[in-house]
Amino acid sequence: DAPKPLLGKKAIVTSGPTLEPIDPVRYIANRSSGKQGHAIAESLAQAGADVTLVSGPVSLPDPVGVTVVRIETAREMLAAVTNALPADIAVFAAAVADWRAADAADQKMKKDGSGVIADLKLLENPDILATISAPGPTRPALVIGFAAETQNVAEHARAKRTRKGCDWILANDVAPDTGTFGGDQNEICLITGDDEKTDERWPRQSKTGVARTLTARIIDHFA
Ligand code: PMT
Repeated sequence: DAPKPLLGKKAIVTSGPTLEPIDPVRYIANRSSGKQGHAIAESLAQAGADVTLVSGPVSLPDPVGVTVVRIETAREMLAAVTNALPADIAVFAAAVADWRAADAADQKMKKDGSGVIADLKLLENPDILATISAPGPTRPALVIGFAAETQNVAEHARAKRTRKGCDWILANDVAPDTGTFGGDQNEICLITGDDEKTDERWPRQSKTGVARTLTARIIDHFA
């Protein structure tokens, strides 16, 4: 049997997009296939962790040995993550929609022929990573976020780590030519502090490879 260095540790992983309804047939969403988050959930479980995966709608099989909670909206994701606490490790790989419609319509909205869309008022969604990172009795010991950036990747990600209050951030380049969204590969810069000398640039590798590298790094951290 493979060694289980994370036995006794509880982990929460978010994955996939959130969908925010505009009316019964339309929604706002961010891009995400769930491949990266699902791979991390599976890898942590293989290392012995008790993993709850909170996922938006994806067309992937459930990872083996993981408890899966399915949600659609950011608010449902926050509730499911909070409900899964306490945990030792939390990894936020989901692409959460930043906004939702202020008043989702009960019936399908009709085009009125004016060529202009009726008022669509948006509200900001709760920031799940920032909420869970806030100091408190149920804050996980190790909170890890992602930063999806299209330019100045490490720099923007470093600022995001401070702003959101998480411990580590995995910066990934999601510019259209990288194929990161939905593709099988990812290139990560792991940011664990304010000094860029501590940045760890991982080679471009499969999303499964990223998941295994992160799991090894987490095992080291707790060792
Ligand atoms: O799913 P794949 O196709 O495999 O692609 C993987 C990925 C590119 C989606 C993934 O690696 C990734 O980068 N996920 C984060 C995407 C994102 O929305 O990043 P962000 O920079 O907007 O958010 C920063 C962090 O805050 C993320 O950890 C995000 O999960 C979290 N967040 C953001 C907004 C919000 N309301 N709540 C959050 O928790």
